[in-house]
Amino acid sequence: MSDVKNSVIEVRGLKKSYGKLEVLKGIDLTVNQGEVVALLGPSGSGKTTLLRCLNFLEKANTGILRIEDETVDLRKVSTKQMLILRRKTAMVFQNYDLFLNKTALENVTEGLIVARKVPRAEAIARAEAVLNKVGLSAKLNSRPHELSGGEQQRVGIARALAVNPAVLLFDEPTSALDPEKVNEILDIIRSVAETGVTMIVVTHEMEFAYDVAGTVVFMEAGEIVEQGNPKQVFGSPRQERTKQFLSRFTTTKRPEYFI
Ligand SMILES: Nc1ncnc2c1ncn2[C@@H]1O[C@H](COP(=O)(O)OP(=O)(O)O)[C@@H](O)[C@H]1O
Ligand SMILES: [Mg+2]
Repeated sequence: MSDVKNSVIEVRGLKKSYGKLEVLKGIDLTVNQGEVVALLGPSGSGKTTLLRCLNFLEKANTGILRIEDETVDLRKVSTKQMLILRRKTAMVFQNYDLFLNKTALENVTEGLIVARKVPRAEAIARAEAVLNKVGLSAKLNSRPHELSGGEQQRVGIARALAVNPAVLLFDEPTSALDPEKVNEILDIIRSVAETGVTMIVVTHEMEFAYDVAGTVVFMEAGEIVEQGNPKQVFGSPRQERTKQFLSRFTTTKRPEYFI
């Protein structure tokens, strides 16, 4: 592991297979404090699997992972190390993944009380604060079926923010939403980014990636093909595969972003 100053998360040689299918073929990635990384790539390239390995929802086969000052060899990570590292990240899912029988408030407090042993009163205060931050203070007692998709995802974001993670992981947070709701969620993510939270965002929203990300990472077939600042990656991609992928997203709205 290098000791790059201010890097919050460092991944080296991360590999993951499902049976014979090697889904991640040796991922190296460093994310600095307060940096927003946009992770792009075609469906099936391994983006979700990478986030899930970083959050220990999946167990990687090999690799080294450091988050803040905790480093583990993923081949032989102990349960204790895994719990320490898992608590340093929080994930926002494509399909929200809320408890359907719990209110917005309870969806946020649950993880705090059960997994993190935060006292109930403090958990409730923290949940109210983050739900307020995402504009949901009027819906604290609503259950998911009483909320729109956009509101459900706001609960998902509040739940992730409530644990004060070192790194926030977003897996296509707007892809299940109606088009008119996409921007309201992107605006919330943008405002969270502006508060200096370190994040990795898997997204197909290219304008958002261009505007908000400090680094764009393009993945294909389980490998990082190219990474750089948005201007470079969008404006003059070095790799043919990146060029081909991005050409599908050429926009008439802001053509100056794209090749
Ligand atoms: N639990 C699983 N079991 C077997 N194969 C899986 C599993 N999860 C993902 N895969 C496979 O891994 C590859 C990468 O999937 P994924 O990480 O979901 O890609 P992306 O998020 O980029 O679309 C795909 O080929 C997918 O079918
Ligand atoms: Mg995915």
